[in-house]
Amino acid sequence: MLKACIFDLDGVIVDTAKYHYIAWKEIARELNFDFTEHDNERLKGVSRMRSLDILLEIGGLLLNEETKISLADKKNKNYVSYIEKMTSAEILPGVPAFLKELKNNRIKTAIGSASKNTPLILQRIGLANYFDEVVDGNKASKAKPDPEVFLLGASGLGVSPGNCVVFEDAEAGIEAALAAGMKCVGVGNPQILYKAHMVISGFEEMDFNRLKTFSEI
Ligand code: BG6
Ligand code: MG
Repeated sequence: MLKACIFDLDGVIVDTAKYHYIAWKEIARELNFDFTEHDNERLKGVSRMRSLDILLEIGGLLLNEETKISLADKKNKNYVSYIEKMTSAEILPGVPAFLKELKNNRIKTAIGSASKNTPLILQRIGLANYFDEVVDGNKASKAKPDPEVFLLGASGLGVSPGNCVVFEDAEAGIEAALAAGMKCVGVGNPQILYKAHMVISGFEEMDFNRLKTFSEI
């Protein structure tokens, strides 16, 4: 029975993927290699340091730990300069109406994100107190595709994993949801998110009735 929805944040509630991309591209430019939007797919859903490792692998570079920490810090400062300017206007279309429907139908909600900037983003878009539980990169120690972030979300809500539906835009996140034993809706491109149980292109396509039917299958 459907009792809770757990939402990834970046790329599901807001399109911060574009800011992550710009900020990593700047680091790649400094290191003299190109970083494409296609490559950026590999960074979605994974932690900041793991993202840097993937970026360096794309550029064919091996750097020491100290340099890596300073590059990740630099990327984050640049990224934060973008998200500090976000407003509720950047909540993705259809999300507010769907969240409201969930509340009206007493479905619990949580955020399950790898981002350490989750509190700042939620505050900027006016959703800091909206979710019943927030599990982010400050709380979870294992990055997606490990299921930890979603399992912590479910236990924080007091709901069994089998009664949760996860919304995810990244392959690593879908794998994490499946490993947690949860139903998973991919948000984005079905060719990339084919492992999800269902894929929608955005929340205008989703409503409570569709969710309920999906969760019962
Ligand atoms: C995820 C993003 O939500 O958070 C990743 O999809 C990002 O691209 C990760 O690397 C960590 O984010 P942050 O804000 O802690 O650097
Ligand atoms: Mg995401």
